[in-house]
Amino acid sequence: MKYPILSMVCSVLIAAVDADIYLHNPRGSNNRHDENTRERKNEKRLFDSQNNDRGGYNVGSPMKYYSGSKYQIEWTNQHSCNSAKGNCELILQYMCNSDLRDGTKTDTIPDTEDGSKDPQYGMHENYEHYLWCSLRERNKGLFTADQNLNNKHTAKYTRQDNQGNRYGYECAEERDYYPYWQPSPWKDIAIMTNKAKKCPYYQSESQNVKSRWGCYFSFEDLKRAKDQINNFPKKSLPNNKEDCEQTQVNGIKGTWKEFPAHGLSKPDCRETDLSRDNHLGNGLNGNPNVYNWTLPDIDEDKCVFRIRYNISTEDYDSWNTTAEYNGNPTKLDLSSKYGLPSEEDAKTRGFVFKGNPNVKLFATANFELQLALDTSQYGRTFQDRSHVFSIKQRPDSLKGMMVHNLNVRGKRGNIVQVYPAVEYDFVPNTINIMAGDYVHFQWTGSNNNPQNNAGQGKPGTDRSNVLLLTPQLYPEGNDVPFGQGPVFGHYGNNYPSSLNNASFLDLSKNDLIQLSFLKPDNADKDLNNADPYFNLEPRQVMTVGTYHYVCTRNNDFSNRDQKGRISVNKFQMENGALGYMGGTLTSRDHQVVLTADQGVFDRLQKLTMEVWPREEGVRRMESYGVTLSIGEKYVSNFLVISPQTELTALGKKFQVRIQTDPDAVNVNMYVSSTDSGFSSWSKVKADIGKDGVVTFSTSRGGVYVAKSDNYTVLIIALCVSILVVFLIVGGAILYFRKNPAKWTQLKDSTKMVKRSTQNKV
Ligand SMILES: *[C@@H]1O[C@H](CO)[C@@H](O)[C@H](O)[C@H]1NC(C)=O
Ligand SMILES: *[C@@H]1O[C@H](CO)[C@@H](O)[C@H](O)[C@H]1NC(C)=O
Ligand SMILES: *[C@@H]1O[C@H](CO)[C@@H](O)[C@H](O)[C@H]1NC(C)=O
Ligand SMILES: *[C@@H]1O[C@H](CO)[C@@H](O)[C@H](O)[C@H]1NC(C)=O
Repeated sequence: MKYPILSMVCSVLIAAVDADIYLHNPRGSNNRHDENTRERKNEKRLFDSQNNDRGGYNVGSPMKYYSGSKYQIEWTNQHSCNSAKGNCELILQYMCNSDLRDGTKTDTIPDTEDGSKDPQYGMHENYEHYLWCSLRERNKGLFTADQNLNNKHTAKYTRQDNQGNRYGYECAEERDYYPYWQPSPWKDIAIMTNKAKKCPYYQSESQNVKSRWGCYFSFEDLKRAKDQINNFPKKSLPNNKEDCEQTQVNGIKGTWKEFPAHGLSKPDCRETDLSRDNHLGNGLNGNPNVYNWTLPDIDEDKCVFRIRYNISTEDYDSWNTTAEYNGNPTKLDLSSKYGLPSEEDAKTRGFVFKGNPNVKLFATANFELQLALDTSQYGRTFQDRSHVFSIKQRPDSLKGMMVHNLNVRGKRGNIVQVYPAVEYDFVPNTINIMAGDYVHFQWTGSNNNPQNNAGQGKPGTDRSNVLLLTPQLYPEGNDVPFGQGPVFGHYGNNYPSSLNNASFLDLSKNDLIQLSFLKPDNADKDLNNADPYFNLEPRQVMTVGTYHYVCTRNNDFSNRDQKGRISVNKFQMENGALGYMGGTLTSRDHQVVLTADQGVFDRLQKLTMEVWPREEGVRRMESYGVTLSIGEKYVSNFLVISPQTELTALGKKFQVRIQTDPDAVNVNMYVSSTDSGFSSWSKVKADIGKDGVVTFSTSRGGVYVAKSDNYTVLIIALCVSILVVFLIVGGAILYFRKNPAKWTQLKDSTKMVKRSTQNKV
């Protein structure tokens, strides 16, 4: 590196600023609860978010999702999480428990057993969790830099919070570190990281699959220990086997025991999506950063979702630095990393890891810059959590069916008033489903937004509805055709279709009325009489086409375009984001399986896999003017893997398994692309297995199909053409034999041609 010192200045500056995270679907509370002020009242209500007070949604209840349904989690994070600018992880978790509650007050739940039972206070982790954490010895092997943690013995004190503040019943040490070494009630959904090579480590350490050991105390003993903790040898309860088995004070003694794993599959782990630094916005192509969660197969009334955003600097190896470097200033030697001759030199020039160091950029001249460095923040975890929701078993009618959740995000107000929350939108805004799938429209809002926030209807209230738009009137822009089949409702219009005339997702008249008026028996034009919560149970959609819909109330000049798009496809289509860890994409009918082993992709690839029936493949090819050549016959569906480019790390290939006609002969796999207009097909090396199962390896996206090359027809065609050539040549020889004069004439004329071309040169 040419300017190592300057690069350090910049990287530390970046590391020391805030990096908030806000959850939009499900609605993140950021500790807010039904508050009509711009700033939330109490940052300590349930958990430590470290976010700005203005964030958060008032309510998220009583959302009810079905197990196994598809749910799009959306958030904004303030800094990139996929660059080399620092370590970064996003950790997605949930927990379900009959004790969870949002509460009715904004005050923090008290640190007492009685308080813990008072339904007025919101509660996520339970009281026992907090008691144990606040009494248990903290992990003293952790690097806490120059933070003063003297006489602070328990796990409620950490480098990020050396005051041991209480946020609901959250355990500070558990919050700040992942994977956490003590038992935790949180179940892992996914980890996204800029260092996907750490994924095997995360997956094997996750409490989903790995048990924890701890020094267990009964709830009664914890309560007694709380009163007596000052009599304890280390002023904390033991956290290791040896102390656990030896320490006993006033009859309080722990049991070293194993806390079983959650018994779930290992969490998903992959690279994070692209996002910009210093910007709470969308990711690539203007789309929000999302994670598609398939809801677990459970039946729970009360669950909470949590997302954490952990960023740390690359100024030292944060994952391998331990307590031996603690001190003021820290004992980290930055000299070699920043091209300084010695540790001594580094120290005198201020290259030490401590609060706000003054660094001298030249050894002799007196140019100094102060770094805005706070060692409690150089590595920092931000968090947001949902309100309480339920995950219910599917009724029999939905078993084996695909259910897509369709929600509304955002809150009342213009962009400035709602920030760092967002304005209204449907989630997912654009969705591709298959004919026969179910759509579950459901949303909630608040009646208690700030009174003067911009919007329609009664001040302070959120409402949404869904109506099909009117058909296209004028040709517009370069609107790229989207999805399959006819288009219902035009995106550029703002008037809804008449309900008498609307052909919208096969919904009944009654459903259309509900989606439009929410509360049909007492309808008013601004929907004020309706409840902010709306749930149309899952509805099956059969009619292929692309539907554009609008919310009439909010589609004004501030919230312009609360509109959404649903494309219902005839053909199977699967999306997946596969990165370094690889993974599998399987078609609905299980006839096509794409498998990438670890290391095949060297970055996150957003793959789409479409399966076209043969007739559709032929139709598409014909639309490019390409027809089947003689002797060819398709013996599988067309498999389209997009993007249709090279996808893998150099020299690596992923595997595809595809079903072909079992009785086909001379089967070969071919690849082409729509990008090339099917201009040529090349053969792909493939294994033809039993019962027509064909497997092949490839490094590219494209259109793949199996053909039966009918060699008998080909050989006959070849023989016929050879015969024709033979006949022409033979005929010519016979002709010239009979007319030698013509032969001489012909020879002379070719010579003349040659000479004339030579002259030209
Ligand atoms: C955050 O990163 C640090 C390393 O910089 C690590 O020690 C810690 O466990 C991480 N915490 C979370 C919640 O991911
Ligand atoms: C710790 O350092 C070792 C050796 O440099 C490295 O292999 C390992 O990946 C590091 N651990 C983590 C969690 O980054
Ligand atoms: C009513 O439906 C018909 C056919 O579906 C369509 O042609 C016509 O444009 C629709 N009219 C309105 C006002 O939406
Ligand atoms: C998530 O689902 C949406 C909507 O179905 C889809 O458009 C998107 O590509 C999916 N994203 C990933 C990363 O799979």
